[in-house]
Amino acid sequence: MKIIIINGPNLNLLGKRETDIYGSLSFEEFFQKLKTEHPDIELTYFQSNIEGELIDKIQEVGFSHDGIILNAAAYTHTSVGIGDAVKAVETPVIEVHISNTFAREEFRHQSYISEGAKGVILGFGLKSYELALQSFIIP
Ligand code: DQA
Repeated sequence: MKIIIINGPNLNLLGKRETDIYGSLSFEEFFQKLKTEHPDIELTYFQSNIEGELIDKIQEVGFSHDGIILNAAAYTHTSVGIGDAVKAVETPVIEVHISNTFAREEFRHQSYISEGAKGVILGFGLKSYELALQSFIIP
């Protein structure tokens, strides 16, 4: 099974950035642990701070992979283009967020991703990614 995690802007700073909200583990550390725990899954990871690169990656993997786990970060709340890309591809997309965006500022309550997503998992810290992965494994 081929699954990709795609992370949007500022998520490269996980572990250093607003640690009270996002925790002190870097994504690389978390990702290596996740890969070790799921040796049967072809799990890859892509991060970009650039909207167009995220759209390019969704298009590139969106007809060959079994699942996309997408945290579009701040672009979640602004990007019609990423929302359209999610709708355009065949691969199911699970939208994830580390924080509970509904418990935060009003502008974070809006998502351009959710409408095209198969499901949304948020508020469980980095475990949100793990739960999204489980959703592809459990039949
Ligand atoms: C986030 C929530 C977004 O509102 C924010 O812009 C992020 C991270 C999360 O994972 O909680 O960068 O997507």
